[in-house]
Amino acid sequence: MAAVNDKYRQLQTQLAGAPKTWLITGVAGFIGCNILEALLKLNQKVVGLDNFATGYRANLDEIAGQFSPDQWNNFRFIEGDIRNLEDCQSACNGVDFVLHQAALGSVPRSLDNPRDTNDTNITGFLNMLIAARDAEVKRFVYAASSSTYGDHPDLPRVESRIGNPLSPYSVTKLVNELYAGVFARCYGFKSIGLRYFNIFGKRQNPNGAYAAVIPKWFTGLAQGEPIFINGDGLSSRDFCYIENTIQANLLAATTDNPAALDQVYNVAVGNRTTLNDLFALVRDQVARRKPEAANSAPVYRDFRAADVPHSHADISKAQALLGYQPSHTLQEGLEIAADWYLRRN
Ligand SMILES: NC(=O)c1ccc[n+]([C@@H]2O[C@H](COP(=O)([O-])OP(=O)(O)OC[C@H]3O[C@@H](n4cnc5c(N)ncnc54)[C@H](O)[C@@H]3O)[C@@H](O)[C@H]2O)c1
Repeated sequence: MAAVNDKYRQLQTQLAGAPKTWLITGVAGFIGCNILEALLKLNQKVVGLDNFATGYRANLDEIAGQFSPDQWNNFRFIEGDIRNLEDCQSACNGVDFVLHQAALGSVPRSLDNPRDTNDTNITGFLNMLIAARDAEVKRFVYAASSSTYGDHPDLPRVESRIGNPLSPYSVTKLVNELYAGVFARCYGFKSIGLRYFNIFGKRQNPNGAYAAVIPKWFTGLAQGEPIFINGDGLSSRDFCYIENTIQANLLAATTDNPAALDQVYNVAVGNRTTLNDLFALVRDQVARRKPEAANSAPVYRDFRAADVPHSHADISKAQALLGYQPSHTLQEGLEIAADWYLRRN
């Protein structure tokens, strides 16, 4: 049973009664499209920007199918690229809140092609900051990353203590935070960065070399394919269900606490789970729906380059300053995500 956060519930009621206009960049991607769905359910007006680099029109179509044509008309999609300043400017026009999700994710992708990651994640980010500042939006919230902790040894991760970046991707996410800070100091444009830990949920892409572990394992187990664990399975992560991420975005966009601005926050559950334990949990979910999966065992292979051994968030800053309280545990999130993934396999 998911926990209820009264502050978030009040915010949802408030927004539904007085709709705002939101821009979601990366709206066709995993996190962006789930935020879109949540905002449309609250009768908000949403502008979405995406170039389909890693996002899918099918994500938008699936959401369209849940709403009446009138409700769907609250969404305006711009096919455009954040590397192009004009696209960012037209997307920011008339918007109250920006939730900037567009980026090229994945550490291995950035190792294979650092320039592409740099162009989208740094030039694109800077374009979005400029466009949002000039449009005088009320708030700019952006997707930062737990990869910014790099090689810092401390666990759990506390926002103020970061190490050296371990990949081009983590450089780009650190630079985002640096630019956000500079825009606050130089132009008085105060934003909020959300350092996402491993987010999972419906519509996260299970396919391709850069897929995240949970969707890959759901799909692989459902199809009877071998499941690989990189390393000995004792590496651990703070896996965070998408609903918690949506909550953090809405709270950050609307906070009127001055101390909450020009800050970054961990967005996670505040627990860590080893890959071995995660495998058992995912297999259990799949086996309840496809009993033949119960006997699957993982295949162990080498550690992946630039992977940190453990990741575990201290979420007390987001709790104290934003009123964030994760509604879903890993197990609750997996249960819901399993329904979505298994319907497709
Ligand atoms: N999923 C996670 O666990 C996680 C963890 C940490 C940080 N993040 C960050 O969260 C954000 C969203 O990640 P996601 O998991 O939804 O990834 P995703 O790949 O599913 O979504 C990213 C979206 O951005 C779009 N995009 C990429 N380049 C673009 C460009 N140049 N112009 C316009 N749109 C572009 C893609 O087409 C895609 O729809 C990213 O910034 C990512 O770095 C995600």
